[in-house]
Amino acid sequence: MNSTYKRIKLQLQIIRLLFICAIAVGVLGFYEFRPNQSSAETDAENTTLVSPASEPKLAVGSTDPISGFVVDEKGHFELVRTTCGACHSTALVTQNRATRQGWKDLIVWMQETQKLWDLGENEEPILDYLSTHYAPTQKGRRPNLTGIEWYELGE
Ligand code: HEC
Repeated sequence: MNSTYKRIKLQLQIIRLLFICAIAVGVLGFYEFRPNQSSAETDAENTTLVSPASEPKLAVGSTDPISGFVVDEKGHFELVRTTCGACHSTALVTQNRATRQGWKDLIVWMQETQKLWDLGENEEPILDYLSTHYAPTQKGRRPNLTGIEWYELGE
């Protein structure tokens, strides 16, 4: 009886010791992997290394490969991309041409019938962008014909 009691006591002590060890490992681990100054710096370095490759700076006048939008100087194409690409393909936008008023009317139509939200202060830059880069193409008189071999009328 006495020896059984001693054995159980020993086992309990071993369990307690293991428990303390586990806590110690846990605490050490926490301090070891806590983001400290130096590892935060490494993170920052990694981010700068990674981000330019994933988001290359697009040249003004080129076409944004994600949306097909013309890249403008002010970078408003990104705003238009996120706003006007939220519900439908941006191709629906890029294949259309309208005046500033035309784009405004379209936005109002979508607000009234298609649950488009109030664009707030974004409306101005969006309209600026659309009316500049997706304006109606001016088609005047057809250009003169070229490369025609005229034949002499005669006899
Ligand atoms: C809340 C959703 C939503 C957002 C955001 C949205 N649209 Fe639309 N838009 C629609 C729906 C719905 C249609 C109708 C699609 C259809 O007919 O298949 C539509 C249609 C269009 C059309 C085609 C109109 C036509 O005559 O067929 C154009 C152009 C357009 N949107 C431009 C824009 C522009 C520019 C923006 C950003 C300012 C925008 N959309 C943002 C919902 C949205």
